[in-house]
Amino acid sequence: MSERTLVLIKPDAVRRGLVGEILARYERKGLTIVALDQRTIDPTLSDAHYAEHVDKPFYPALREFVTGGPLVALVLDGDQAIDVVRAMNGATDGRKAAPGTIRGDLALSNSENLVHASDSPEAAKRELDLWFPGL
Ligand code: PPS
Repeated sequence: MSERTLVLIKPDAVRRGLVGEILARYERKGLTIVALDQRTIDPTLSDAHYAEHVDKPFYPALREFVTGGPLVALVLDGDQAIDVVRAMNGATDGRKAAPGTIRGDLALSNSENLVHASDSPEAAKRELDLWFPGL
């Protein structure tokens, strides 16, 4: 069943020139890019996006990181896109992510881990409304 998911290609990926590589992986998989926008976000959007994490000790560092430079927000569409993209991204910690995944191949950190993706249908709806209202 076709569904949509929200992906962020985070500032570390933009800084490292990995946007094309990451987009190419999603496209080669057969996912469709429905929307794509490079922007530098403010703390308010970061707080809304990471609402479940704002009280955690690591959140100030995470907010500093995601607001610290341009990122690329995109909407991907495809069969079971939410789970497929999570699997392609790999485990949160790039040091533990399996080879063959985006983080497993390209990241070596728990925080600067290149990508974010919605982790459930409920999260996808909330994040799509937040980043691409009216889409
Ligand atoms: S938790 O507490 O287990 O739910 O958190 P987790 O799923 O591991 O991570 C949620 C997001 O927070 C980021 N993260 C961090 N950022 C900065 N510093 C530290 N120490 C840190 N630890 C976790 C992590 O990359 C996740 O980001 P997203 O964008 O959701 O993948």
